[in-house]
Amino acid sequence: YDYDLLVVGSANADLVIGVERRPGAGETVLGTDLAVHPGGKGANQAVAAARLGARTALLARVGDDDYGRLLLDSQRAAGVDTVGVLVGGAPTGVALITVDPSGDNSIVVSPGANGRLVPGDVRAAASLFHASRVVSTQLEVPLETVVEVVRSLAPDSRFVLNPSPPRPLPQEVLAACDPLIVNEHEAKVILGGSCVGDRPEDWARILLAKGPRSVVVTLGAEGALVASGAEVSRVPSVKVDAVDTTGAGDAFTAALAWRLGTGESLADAAAYAARVGAAAVTRAGAQASYPTAAEVEAL
Ligand code: RIB
Ligand code: NA
Repeated sequence: YDYDLLVVGSANADLVIGVERRPGAGETVLGTDLAVHPGGKGANQAVAAARLGARTALLARVGDDDYGRLLLDSQRAAGVDTVGVLVGGAPTGVALITVDPSGDNSIVVSPGANGRLVPGDVRAAASLFHASRVVSTQLEVPLETVVEVVRSLAPDSRFVLNPSPPRPLPQEVLAACDPLIVNEHEAKVILGGSCVGDRPEDWARILLAKGPRSVVVTLGAEGALVASGAEVSRVPSVKVDAVDTTGAGDAFTAALAWRLGTGESLADAAAYAARVGAAAVTRAGAQASYPTAAEVEAL
């Protein structure tokens, strides 16, 4: 394989404002100066993996505009192969993000060009799929595109999905996930919004019964659960002072996907990914906050 990881997904300009608290309906609050960062769950995953040393390619679509160039520059600076980044068709996607003093964020995404990443773009990138050991994606691009990704996988390659923002998934996509990576909110949506009990161990088991080959449930400060076969095990979290959690989940997913491709077990890969995610929350921004392998070792 030429690539350890192919990421298919979104690229957004993140317009970030720090707030003391979020406004309610009809309310106005003042925030900090505006910061513009390269973001988007797909672009974030690609940068995170490349920073760790993975040979990484990104299949995405940006606009022919300044934000698109910001995103391409960030990918190239991290060492991502951008041969699969398509330009034009709509303006670059934008994410409006508020970050509160505890480091938590709220995000609204305008998909823009991400919504124009169509199944035909996936088919045209067949050579990337054949060259990639692991393929990961998220749900900020059309669902038909994700379905086409699943159909385009090389016979021995592995598919990793973080269904964010969540929506119900076709069986064909669920069955391909190895693993499906969800937080609590995403788990509930994938399970049809039904009340599935209080125990995350139960969510992991019920999700697994829906078809994925393996499942990871991320639990924030409580760490994560990994489930495959009959086993559910807990991966501890790494305690850090949170500055900005934006994109930490993307770093977790990318690190996990990469390590799985090296043959590591799901539990070991998730433990490593938890350290990568922890490092990412200690710094501002998404891509700007991602650690190198040496920084992960030092944590
Ligand atoms: O997961 C964080 C990302 O979500 C941000 O970078 C933003 O662009 C949205 O896609
Ligand atoms: Na961060």
